[in-house]
Amino acid sequence: MTLDLRSDFLGPPTPAMLEAMAAAAAEPDGFELRENRQQRALEAHAAELLGKEDALLFPTCTMANLVGVMAQLRPGEVVVGDAESHCLTSETGGIAAIAGGMTRGLNGTAGQLPLEPLRDVLDARTDPQRLAARLVLLETTHNRAGGLPLPLDHIEQVGEMARRGGAGLHIDGARFFNAAVALGVSPAAMAAPATTVSISLNKGLCAPNGALLAGSRELIARALILRQQLGGGIRPSGAIAAAALVALETMLPQLQRDHDNARALAAGLGQVGFAATPQSGGTNIVLADLGLPRAAIDAFLAALARQHVLAIAFGAGRIRLCLHRGIEAADLPTIISAFRAARAATGMAPQEN
Ligand SMILES: Cc1ncc(COP(=O)(O)O)c(C=O)c1O
Repeated sequence: MTLDLRSDFLGPPTPAMLEAMAAAAAEPDGFELRENRQQRALEAHAAELLGKEDALLFPTCTMANLVGVMAQLRPGEVVVGDAESHCLTSETGGIAAIAGGMTRGLNGTAGQLPLEPLRDVLDARTDPQRLAARLVLLETTHNRAGGLPLPLDHIEQVGEMARRGGAGLHIDGARFFNAAVALGVSPAAMAAPATTVSISLNKGLCAPNGALLAGSRELIARALILRQQLGGGIRPSGAIAAAALVALETMLPQLQRDHDNARALAAGLGQVGFAATPQSGGTNIVLADLGLPRAAIDAFLAALARQHVLAIAFGAGRIRLCLHRGIEAADLPTIISAFRAARAATGMAPQEN
């Protein structure tokens, strides 16, 4: 059996999700964009969980992020976020190409924005030639920071700065619930400083697909139109929404298991000479820094794949492994053995840890 750790969207749906999907697919679905009863139940549940007035179903988190930006920005206006954030690095320039936004990437630390430069970007008075940023982006957990959650007080500080500067705050929360579980705080408390929050339903939560955007009634009304412009109005939506509702209702307590497995995997890899330090407060992502050039990383990943373990290259010298419902604690020794075999096959030396 292949152990596929390339992303947490590979986590399989639970039998309860599949049953709910089958039952919903057999029901009449509805014609209007928000008519379906399962979709309305999902959106209402998500809005309540996130402490927002409304939430809207999307096909992907990329589209939810883009529409979150478009709903709060006019073409030419400035969006500021961490230079390593998914919105700036991995959404193929949608903010510029479609929203017409001008992005400013700040060099954050573990996903946290540097506050003085942020203050400067939000302050229109510093230079009349520059527009103050209209929107701030945060990402939690932060993918490129290895799944670290942003501390609640950082979200609150950034939210307050944005508010004072007359800007919105969008949180890319593809793994928002991983962050809430790791911090032990309520999703609503984490979402409170934000004007909009996106969440993925298909990552740790294991719904087959879907994402949500939550915010004020007014912003979500605008988002409904923008989603339609992008072709994101899903119909029929009942089967997708029914599975996602089960995911939201049942999977949050399960996320800790993925976090525990990630910590154990990083520790196990460390013990056999890989620089994969378990991050305190980390979540379901393990980054192994092999310190090798890209061609050697690719050779290592190919050797790992021959051992039936899949991971991805992730920036200079690193590979990423995502833990999810499809990977059990009992699989961890197999993954660690595969790493040792790949090292032997590629002639890589053990690392200091
Ligand atoms: C932090 C983050 N934001 C957004 C996304 C986009 O999600 P989707 O694949 O649903 O568009 C991802 C996907 O991996 C992600 O890691």
